[in-house]
Amino acid sequence: MKYRRLAGAQVSEVGLGTWQLGSADYGIVSEEQAMAILSRFVDLGGNLIDTADVYGGGQSEEYIGKFIRQTRAKVLIADKIGRRTDSPFGWPQNFSYDIMREHVEDSLYRLGVDSVFLEQLHCIPKDELFKGVVFDHLRRLQDEGLIENWGVSVESIEEAKICLEQYGISSIQIIFNLFRQNVAEELFELAQKKNVGIIARVPLASGLLSGKFSLETTFTSNDHRHYNANGEYFNVGETFSGVPFARGVGFSNELKKILPEGKLSQMAIRWILDHPAVTSVIPGASNPNQVVSNMEVSELNRIPADVMTKLRNYYDENIFQEIRGEI
Ligand SMILES: NC(=O)c1ccc[n+]([C@@H]2O[C@H](COP(=O)([O-])OP(=O)(O)OC[C@H]3O[C@@H](n4cnc5c(N)ncnc54)[C@H](OP(=O)(O)O)[C@@H]3O)[C@@H](O)[C@H]2O)c1
Repeated sequence: MKYRRLAGAQVSEVGLGTWQLGSADYGIVSEEQAMAILSRFVDLGGNLIDTADVYGGGQSEEYIGKFIRQTRAKVLIADKIGRRTDSPFGWPQNFSYDIMREHVEDSLYRLGVDSVFLEQLHCIPKDELFKGVVFDHLRRLQDEGLIENWGVSVESIEEAKICLEQYGISSIQIIFNLFRQNVAEELFELAQKKNVGIIARVPLASGLLSGKFSLETTFTSNDHRHYNANGEYFNVGETFSGVPFARGVGFSNELKKILPEGKLSQMAIRWILDHPAVTSVIPGASNPNQVVSNMEVSELNRIPADVMTKLRNYYDENIFQEIRGEI
């Protein structure tokens, strides 16, 4: 595993997304499977684990906490707050200092730690980013030692740019993959200039970029790839990166023909890592074999420049206009 620098730490360039742990949004992942996923990740040199207080209503954090207690593994937790609906005022009005602090403390309790490496705002309303008071709260929580560093997870380049104006920000988490290529030229240079890391989420477009789905594939009713396939419940970009499923199956087949030989999932992650502004890519996994495959990518060769150009041309000509949701 290779490492890249984030907020003074060396983080694994392949991290682990854990929306899958404890929620049914990718099918049920049992506690045993969750522990096996985390073990395999750490055994192979991974250390950056992305989670959120709302994944499985705190279950993802609890599994991670249990894993840390059992193994004493040295991991760097990138947590997220801001989407809980059970606070006194509820989403989207829970951005006072007191509520944010309460939510961070609840996360720390579930994780069984005194502080998290990185606390991220979890795709909160754009208005709150414009107002900017939330950033004061984050800086205060950092001064108080509850969070070591802070960043944001955002839906769009515009939101990322608002956040990049804020003093003390360490990272931007954004959807970046072969279905969302233009994020690179519109955001990365600016982030690099400001020494702000990029965490690339939804790298496999919710699994579409593994090439394992066909037009016949169906998902259970509690899987977001069923209930949010067209953005019915939350931002359409978080499911299949906003590409209509059937179109995405076709695009994946075509991209596979352009990419070097190998597993499509690995080439899709390699493509992300070939952007030096990316600090870490955080594929989610619902079993340990996926973790192994995703982490192997760190050792694969870069994708040749001429292939990168062909991928970009294919994106511009075919994919870009099909993306739903704000980029
Ligand atoms: N708003 C936000 O801040 C936000 C939103 C979304 C995600 N995230 C974070 O980003 C992480 C990554 O996003 P994501 O999990 O939604 O999407 P993703 O990483 O693009 O896709 C994950 C899914 O891809 C499939 N997969 C993974 N590795 C595979 C492999 N090697 N071979 C074949 N299939 C593979 C699995 O599908 P199956 O389970 O069907 O096998 C897995 O559940 C999340 O876990 C979460 O931590 C944050």
